[in-house]
Amino acid sequence: MNAEQVGALIRPDIFEMEPYTPIVPFEVLCARLGLPADQIIKVDANENPYGPSPRVAEALARYPYYHIYPDPNHTVLREALEAYVGVGREHLMLGTGSDELLDVVIRLFVQPGDAVVNCPPTFGMYPFLASVAGSRTLSVPRKEDLSVDVKAIEALYADGGLSPKLVFVASPNNPDGGVLSAEQLARLLALPAVIVVDQAYVEFGGTDYSPLVPEHSNLIVMRTFSKWAGLAGLRVGYGVFPTGIIGHLFKIKQPYNVNAAAQAAVLASLEDLETLRERVRTLVRERERLYQGLQSIGYLQPYPSQSNFILNRVLGRDAAELKRGLERRGVLVRHYRAPRLSDCIRISVGTPEQNQRVLAVLREEAR
Ligand SMILES: Cc1ncc(COP(=O)(O)O)c(C=O)c1O
Repeated sequence: MNAEQVGALIRPDIFEMEPYTPIVPFEVLCARLGLPADQIIKVDANENPYGPSPRVAEALARYPYYHIYPDPNHTVLREALEAYVGVGREHLMLGTGSDELLDVVIRLFVQPGDAVVNCPPTFGMYPFLASVAGSRTLSVPRKEDLSVDVKAIEALYADGGLSPKLVFVASPNNPDGGVLSAEQLARLLALPAVIVVDQAYVEFGGTDYSPLVPEHSNLIVMRTFSKWAGLAGLRVGYGVFPTGIIGHLFKIKQPYNVNAAAQAAVLASLEDLETLRERVRTLVRERERLYQGLQSIGYLQPYPSQSNFILNRVLGRDAAELKRGLERRGVLVRHYRAPRLSDCIRISVGTPEQNQRVLAVLREEAR
């Protein structure tokens, strides 16, 4: 068979699909910019500038069982997580980042032709994973202030047409850091759908809805160790699921989805909560300082954020050009091509020194 014939065997919807564009790897960017890593301020992916707890490296060095498959039931981890999340272990499942769990949830509910609801602008993974599963994504754009348009979502179910099975809402939302209120969530939970609240950034602000899961058979909350615990590179997240859903998820997830190193890193992180929480407090303080600094820059209009990043409208100049200008000076920020965001840049909160430098470079750009 030639490549064309093989191509004809590939699912036509995937053959035609646009690839998901993740950010360019750090090493690649350093090489492209011709700058050493220590001269680059990477505030483009909402990572934790402090990295993991120092106990993680010790735990990884000590761990004796890398040659043995890890526990598919995450027994020890779920037990340890119970106290941190405040929800029984029977509601907890871990994954290779919360990205993997979003995928498993979508595969559990969605068949080709089914629909899910997405509220853009938001994290791009929901429509991407939905389309891989052959699902249609119904977009209910956020309002002008980027809050969720609950009324428009309710209207989708009121007209008696296609009834989307899943509704995805991030709180705090990426890219703006706005949150879903308890009242909005209550209205969504009244719909005949499973509501997936992605709380990847909840340690930085907003209400944690995990404790509501045991009372609601249609609420899923996604959490992660990538942001507050600085474990993005080890890929470990978890979900809080109703008991009517979690058993089915365990049936279809990859048995050894969370590798041994990630499991050891989670346990070490949960044993060093004071250090990690102190870092989160510093980042939250820094977010407010960065916000004030950004407000004083005439060509930027920052959105108030409950997360570890700040979205800024760029006024009177090209945002993509600004991003490239900052990049040449070693400051990496996020720019989007999406229509409602093409005049924005998103800046993650760094260390005090990094934020100082980011503000200085942005001020110099004004000249
Ligand atoms: C809203 C949101 N959810 C989930 C993730 C991914 O989390 P994880 O690293 O656990 O896959 C991100 C990462 O940027 C995010 O912004």
